[in-house]
Parts: sequence; C-alpha cells; structure tokens
Amino acid sequence: MSAWQLWRDRRGRLSALRIVALALLLFPLAKALIDYDAIAHGARPINDLIHRAGFWALIFLGVSLAITPFRRIARYGNLIDVRRMIGVGSFCYIAAHLVLYVADQKYDFAKVASELTHRLYLVIGGLAWLGLAVLAATSTDGMVRRIGGLRWRRLHQTIYVIALLALIHYFQQTKADVTVPTFAAGLLTWLLAYRLVGWWRDKNELSTTQLLGLAVTVSLLTFASEAIGIGITFGVSPLRVLDSVFDFDAGIRPGWQVLAAGLAAVILDFVRSRWTSRERRSRTVAAE
Ligand code: HEM
Repeated sequence: MSAWQLWRDRRGRLSALRIVALALLLFPLAKALIDYDAIAHGARPINDLIHRAGFWALIFLGVSLAITPFRRIARYGNLIDVRRMIGVGSFCYIAAHLVLYVADQKYDFAKVASELTHRLYLVIGGLAWLGLAVLAATSTDGMVRRIGGLRWRRLHQTIYVIALLALIHYFQQTKADVTVPTFAAGLLTWLLAYRLVGWWRDKNELSTTQLLGLAVTVSLLTFASEAIGIGITFGVSPLRVLDSVFDFDAGIRPGWQVLAAGLAAVILDFVRSRWTSRERRSRTVAAE
C-alpha cells in the first residue's frame, strides 16, 4: 500500500476515521476556495490567507494534542491512528503560512530574514515553526526506529513548548479582541495539566473526580488571566474588572467556554466508564 493512501489504515483497509480526519484537514482549504471572491476582493488577500493558515495550523496542533486525553476519556483507542496525520496536517498549514508571508513580502528574502530576527512576534513564531518542522520531519516510522522510542518520545514532548510559543505569537499579533486566544490558552492549559496530573499520580488515566477538579481549576485560571490581561491593558486593578469576566452581557467569556469544554470531558468520562463496566459485566455473564 502506498504511504500516500492516507484514507487506508496500516493493514490497507479503507478507514472511516482516516477519511473523517482527512476531510477535517481539507476543510479550511475548501472554505478558502468557497470564500475566493470575498478574499480576492478584500483589502489584503494574502494577509487574509496568512491569518487563515496560521489559525487552522494552531487548531490542528491543538487537536493533535487533544487526541491522547480524548482517546482515554472516550475509551476509543483507535483515535491514535490519526494523530500523526493531524500533526503533519498542522505543519502543512504552517508551511503555507510562512510561504504566504514570504509572498506578502514580495519574495524579498533579505527583508524576511531581517523581520524574522528583529520582530519579537516573528522571532517567537519562527521558533515554533522550526520546532514543528523538526517534529514533522521525525514523524515517520523509520525516524522513530532510527532515533529510538524513548528519545523520540522525549523529542516529541517538546510539542507543548512549541504550542506555547505559537500561542504567544497568536496573542502578540491579535491587536483588539483576545477572547479566542484566551480560550485557546485555557484549552492548552487543560491539556498540559491533564498530562501533569497523570504524570504526578503515575497513572495515565484520570478519574472522573480529577477531571472535574481540572475543569474547575483551569476555568478559574482562565477567568483570572483574562482579568489580569484587561487590568494590564487598561492600567486598572484586575480585582476591579474581575466581575466583568464572569458577565454574560459581554458574551460567553473564555472562562465559561473552558468550563464547558472541561465539563463535556467529565460527562463523557462518566458515561463511557459506566458503559464499559456494563459491557464488561455482560461479557462475564455470557462467558459463565
Ligand atoms: C516563520 C514563522 C512565522 C511567520 C513569519 C508568521 C507570520 C505571521 C503573520 C505575518 C501574521 C499576521 C500578522 C498581522 O496581520 O498583523 C501571523 C498571524 C498568525 N500566526 Fe503566524 N507566523 C509564523 C509562525 C506561526 C506558527 C508556528 C503558528 C502556529 C502554529 C502561527 C500561528 C498564527 C496565528 C494563529 C495567527 C493569527 C491568525 C488569526 O488572526 O486568526 N504562526 N503570523
């Protein structure tokens, strides 16, 4: 089977999961084609595409990080089959992000090099870009064998640092409304905290109660960081603006969004744990 037949699993069978993942990865491209007229007649078409490519690269980076916790919570081990595809997909969008940026600079490579070393948000984006390139280049089975499983896993754990750099880059270039970057930061904190709690408890899976604790703690941190951010921007005490970040009049704030995502994980875990134990019980009864 050719490695390019991404819709087939390792045994060469057609895989519904892979087809869904592939469709998800191609969605931003299809959306850009549908929006072609609006983009082409907009003020800065290339800049529009730079934003789209960067945004989706970050989304897919987050999705690839969420696969391990999600497959454990949903008791759906097969998901691991699409993690690499989504990670590499994220890199493809980030490669396009850089190519579009170079095109926007009229292929003036001296200027690009100078900007990449002098503008802080580009220095940080550039470091994240290099990190993702290294992870994409070492993502093949051959590379895992060459580097060795343990060293490969350590190298690929740097994905959390890379995601943090990408997030900082996103915050730095978002001039007005930071609601979406704050929500993304909350989700990244949840993903990182999930790994840290698992590592600290020396257990891969977290209990439903631990997941509930995680959801509440991370959402409180998100509320606090939004208040601190507003406080710094407007030069006021974060305590004075704290009530505004809970306020529904200003839309559903990132803290609530993170709480909703965390609680969804709690509910899924609760349902799946009951389901799996019922399945196990009926299998034991059938065997008796
Ligand atoms: C050499 C590396 C990079 C360059 C030159 C670069 C360049 C840029 C530029 C020029 C913008 C638009 C800024 C503006 O319009 O004011 C941008 C936005 C953005 N970049 Fe990058 N970037 C790089 C790496 C990355 C990486 C590694 C990620 C994430 C994985 C990323 C994610 C984003 C996001 C999410 C946005 C904002 C999108 C939005 O507004 O919705 N960038 N980048």
